[in-house]
Amino acid sequence: MKSEIIRKLKETDGYVSGQHLCETLGVSRTAVWKTIGRLRDEGYRIEAVRNRGYRLLETADVLTETECRDYLADRWLGNPVYCFGETDSTNIRAKILAEKGAPEGTLVLAESQTAGKGRRGRSWVSPPGEGLWFSLVLRPNIRPSVTPLLTLVAAMAVAAGIEDVTGLPARIKWPNDIVISGKKVVGILTELSAEAQETHYVVVGIGINVNMTEFPEEIRGTATSLYLESGNFFNRLSIVAAVMKRMEPYYKSYMSTCNLEGLHEEYMKRLVNLNREVMILEPGKERRGVCEGIDRNGCLLVRGENGNVERVISGEVSVRGIYGYV
Ligand code: BTN
Repeated sequence: MKSEIIRKLKETDGYVSGQHLCETLGVSRTAVWKTIGRLRDEGYRIEAVRNRGYRLLETADVLTETECRDYLADRWLGNPVYCFGETDSTNIRAKILAEKGAPEGTLVLAESQTAGKGRRGRSWVSPPGEGLWFSLVLRPNIRPSVTPLLTLVAAMAVAAGIEDVTGLPARIKWPNDIVISGKKVVGILTELSAEAQETHYVVVGIGINVNMTEFPEEIRGTATSLYLESGNFFNRLSIVAAVMKRMEPYYKSYMSTCNLEGLHEEYMKRLVNLNREVMILEPGKERRGVCEGIDRNGCLLVRGENGNVERVISGEVSVRGIYGYV
């Protein structure tokens, strides 16, 4: 009944009478009143005026399928959408759905994850309410060897979407961390199901620190949130919608060439490592150089101390700044 009442309130410009809600939903006045109370507990601001009825003043920052459908109505990425309260990992849920035939564009969100996955086998802390933890199912008809580039494409979409909503200058630390003021605000984990020459599906998992007001001591120096950078709280679904909107043309461009030809310039503008000294972290073979950008296959171009330019392949090694994270 909650979603029906919200729908009615959203459709109506002014007040919706309690009587009308009772009649159209076939429930008692008490049931309507109790549901309004529950919606208020979730964060919806609903005004109640005697003899007039109920009026929606502000929607809540909740990740429900009803809300998602409003935000993602015009999108082909982000449909269908599945919302979980608590789940193990949205990447795990998305993979299960993909195995069962979920179409391209399927989006899975969760309020919190109990087994959020980061890269290199690390875990990803995903508390409820403040962050965005979501995964997108893609079914690109491309060779598995070029799918790692999708992570860079997703990073571009996330950075642009964040900038659209918040106005914050979001940059990319190659290949796919989003940083603001030198600190990480987004992590992306892409997982693939493929055979030798055939890609079955790709799951792009995205974690965004949106409204966190603080971080544990250990990561305070390298992690940040959109709130900490701007002093504003953001509606999380408006960020999801902005990311999906940006992802659609980027994904099309990438699919038309299977490389970053059409996106190269824009990626370079966001590349925080550009012209900076970087450390290439390869176990037993660490080296440093100056980042000269990326090529159209997403490799990082690093001019080493011997003057030669090395092409660093994403996924094989990681890089960091010589004085710290960036
Ligand atoms: C990283 O280590 O930087 C990648 C972190 C990716 C976290 C996101 S949160 C949503 C999705 N579900 C997961 O279990 N992981 C990704």
